[in-house]
Amino acid sequence: MLEATMIDAQTKLYGVIGNPVRHSLSPIIHNAAFRRMELNAAYLAFQVNNLMEALNGIRGLGICGVSVTIPFKTQVIPFLDQVEDIARKIQAVNTIKNEEGKLVGYNTDWRGALEALEEKVDLKGKKVLLLGAGGAARAIGFGLKEKGSQVIISNRSSDKANELAKDLGFVCQPWLSISEPKIDVIINATSVGMSPHKAESPLPKIFLKEGMVVMDIVYQPLKTKLLEEAEKRGCQTIDGLEMLARQGAGQLEIWTGRKPEINQIKEDLRRALAGF
Ligand code: ATR
Repeated sequence: MLEATMIDAQTKLYGVIGNPVRHSLSPIIHNAAFRRMELNAAYLAFQVNNLMEALNGIRGLGICGVSVTIPFKTQVIPFLDQVEDIARKIQAVNTIKNEEGKLVGYNTDWRGALEALEEKVDLKGKKVLLLGAGGAARAIGFGLKEKGSQVIISNRSSDKANELAKDLGFVCQPWLSISEPKIDVIINATSVGMSPHKAESPLPKIFLKEGMVVMDIVYQPLKTKLLEEAEKRGCQTIDGLEMLARQGAGQLEIWTGRKPEINQIKEDLRRALAGF
């Protein structure tokens, strides 16, 4: 196996651009995966102030690919040479590949979430309650539309819920007064329950019914209050590690053309999160 120290003149460079970025778990995902895949590649976190300069740097230095995070996922789109269709629809790019000087934008967030869900449930025709209307909810919402789910959006700020529902052709219901009786899947795409607010859940437990699939995108903590209550009620649960690991796996696949081992990525992340 290639050691981390074996950086030489052939090493391919990847990274993440964002601000702030020092808390990012992406270097852990990617460097460990590169080593396991025996690739001569390295991945760094770049705290970026000027997006244009950063993109010129990627072009100028021949950086092979970058992850894009807050606050650049939408801002970056007009500066790219090409953007895949669904990333343009979502209005967010989380992955750039440098294809011989051409910067191409992709979105692996939606695929990550959808892959995790589809391990538990066939989404076609299913009633899904999507909590949130921010960037993550938007990515997941577009994925659910692709899969043919019937989605109800609910968000604290109703104007944002209305806007996302309109873009996707979904319905929305007021925050915490959802009247739909038969829900198959609940997805928390808000930040409610994230550390240090671990005692909070985005949804009263009365909504949780046996057999439902309940997914949370929050990964700190891994077992959120929502998932803890869902488990007690006999729901199938999916924690935030799944989407995180799978969006990273999607990036690796775009960059290298190879599918990384997802369970190994989850293991790396679990270890990293335990150290936080
Ligand atoms: P991301 O890109 O991770 O989705 P975001 O765009 O800031 O982040 O979205 C955060 C989501 O969490 C939003 O849906 C937000 O609701 P608002 O649109 O009303 O702001 C939701 N959210 C954050 N804190 C919340 C809270 N305390 N109660 C309910 N919803 C909350």
